[in-house]
Amino acid sequence: MNTQIDNLLHENRRFAPSEEFAAKAVAQPSLYEEAAADRLGFWANQARELLSWEKPFTRTLDWSNPPFAKWFDDGTLNVAYNCLDRHVEAGIGDRVAIHWEGEPGDSRSITYAELTDEVKRAANVLTGLGIGKGDRVAIYLPMIPEAVVAMLAVARIGAIHSVVFGGFSADSLRSRIDDAEAKLVITADGGWRKGKVSPLKPAVDQALNGKDGDPQGTVEHVLVVKRGENDVEWNEGRDLWWHEQMQAASAEHTPEAFEAENPLYILYTSGTTGKPKGILHTSGGYLTQAAFTHKYVFDLHAESDVYWCTADIGWVTGHSYVVYGPLANGATQLMYEGTPETPHPGRWWELIEKYKVSIFYTAPTAIRSFMKIGRQVPQEFDLSSIRVLGSVGEPINPEAWMWYRKVIGADAAPIVDTWWQTETGAIMVSALPGITAAKPGSAQVAIPGISVKVVDEAGKPVENGAGGLLVIDEPWPSMLRGIWGDPERYKETYWEKFGDVYFAGDGARLDEDGDIWLLGRVDDVMNVSGHRLSTAEIESALVANEMVAESAVVGATDDTTGQAVVAFVIIKQSHLDAAEKIADIAGALRGWVGEQIGPIARPRDIFIVNELPKTRSGKIMRRLLRDLAEGREIGDTTTLADTMVMKVISDKVKK
Ligand code: WTA
Repeated sequence: MNTQIDNLLHENRRFAPSEEFAAKAVAQPSLYEEAAADRLGFWANQARELLSWEKPFTRTLDWSNPPFAKWFDDGTLNVAYNCLDRHVEAGIGDRVAIHWEGEPGDSRSITYAELTDEVKRAANVLTGLGIGKGDRVAIYLPMIPEAVVAMLAVARIGAIHSVVFGGFSADSLRSRIDDAEAKLVITADGGWRKGKVSPLKPAVDQALNGKDGDPQGTVEHVLVVKRGENDVEWNEGRDLWWHEQMQAASAEHTPEAFEAENPLYILYTSGTTGKPKGILHTSGGYLTQAAFTHKYVFDLHAESDVYWCTADIGWVTGHSYVVYGPLANGATQLMYEGTPETPHPGRWWELIEKYKVSIFYTAPTAIRSFMKIGRQVPQEFDLSSIRVLGSVGEPINPEAWMWYRKVIGADAAPIVDTWWQTETGAIMVSALPGITAAKPGSAQVAIPGISVKVVDEAGKPVENGAGGLLVIDEPWPSMLRGIWGDPERYKETYWEKFGDVYFAGDGARLDEDGDIWLLGRVDDVMNVSGHRLSTAEIESALVANEMVAESAVVGATDDTTGQAVVAFVIIKQSHLDAAEKIADIAGALRGWVGEQIGPIARPRDIFIVNELPKTRSGKIMRRLLRDLAEGREIGDTTTLADTMVMKVISDKVKK
């Protein structure tokens, strides 16, 4: 973090958009003025302009019961209708909604008219299975068009989806199904990853059957998309093939309008405790801000652009910027199933050339891994279609920013570094291409209609040039409406620190111009390759292993992944002998964490130690472990109960 601060203190390069770009840009400087003059009026205008309402709203914001917001709450709409049917009615049904490319090279281009038909059929399938308004549907799918169809079909009938990333384990899936009490799971036999089929259905079977064979309570059916063609076990009566159900279903379906605050989805994300939080989003406000930001932050010209966001639909970026934002705006996008290096390291760039992608949105960790491979790989492809580049998920270091601009953006495409969270639902802080002179490494300013501040520990706004904590001090349309089933946790986690403003959990600094530089999480949440992981969640996975007595997990700076998981583990006395017989105990525990949570949570390093550094009150001093994991000199140890313990641990680690 210190090197990052040093870098950014010396970062004074500016990249203004070309006059030509600015002249054609969707966002004009007047947007900021309009929003500043009348913030609520501005959002009401966006909601009316960007969406179709069945019953127009008359109330913009109801903040009478903070922190529970209601936006546009006397209006009604159908989210799927807004993403599909209305485009067909407007005469652009022949426009491609999704160019889909499978990892083995198979592809499909699906128009808005075709996607609308599929979603209508799927909505009928769901209704036929007894799913209705408010019911929860878990979606555990690879990056295939059916994932989008499933999400929109759930939305169309007023039900609530809970998408679980396909890389999560059976245990993670099960706890999410349990928490949301899902009635239906939509999955696939398998999907393609790294040149082979990676099965998904077995994890669903394991989640639903339970480890001890106890049948899961709430799930009535499992819909299975055929994608990997791998063999699957079949549970008669419970399991149904998606293609058979779709074939039998009618393609006629009239969308029903639901109130703007009807829940749209739950998405689980890591917090500071071991239990993931089900972040709840609703319909009208969420869709307004997703559509607004997708259009203005990416300078979308829907009739000519080809947009590509590389995020998986299992993350919020996939929800807002693969599904809801782009489809509400009638955009044409690329969706790719597989990994970037399969079958060759230039696959992404080949796809950009093939589909003439003009707007490209990805994460700093991906950019850094391409930097490592070298610019000769992207330079083999024609990337001249690119006009806007986006970054999301973690701070982008100025070096990666410059590489992105020069090598991918031909030293011309504006870069938007977009700060937001699962909880915020949509982009909150970003440059606007065509307006902002970009600074490498800074997310810059709140978008029009959004108010953020950097404050000190007492909640007082800091001066330009100083650092502090990022807060959002006015409610926003796509804000989370709570944590599923736990309103108290929602208040405590986000609203109690400063009383009446939203605490994001990120450190930030204002530069001399008042631009915002994000500095990473200030809590026990790690950011590994742009994915959120909690130290507590991995610690509890480790101690769930019968050999482990205690563990402490820290996020250590990593050149490629931003942060990496490093674990310190104490083996139980009673298991020392058994543990010694395992040649690679660290490897075994890494595998264990992978099974418990998912491969992304596997620690980079596991150190077996005899003790952990604790304060006299018993709190683990992670700061010291982080120093050790990052190879720094160990900081102040005077508050340790046993001041020698760090020496013992560091001797062990260096061995
Ligand atoms: C981090 C992903 C710096 C931040 C959309 C935040 C960022 C967390 C940026 C949310 C950015 C995201 N610059 N940090 N442009 N974007 N973050 O919920 O720490 O998966 O709190 O949402 O990612 O991660 P989440």
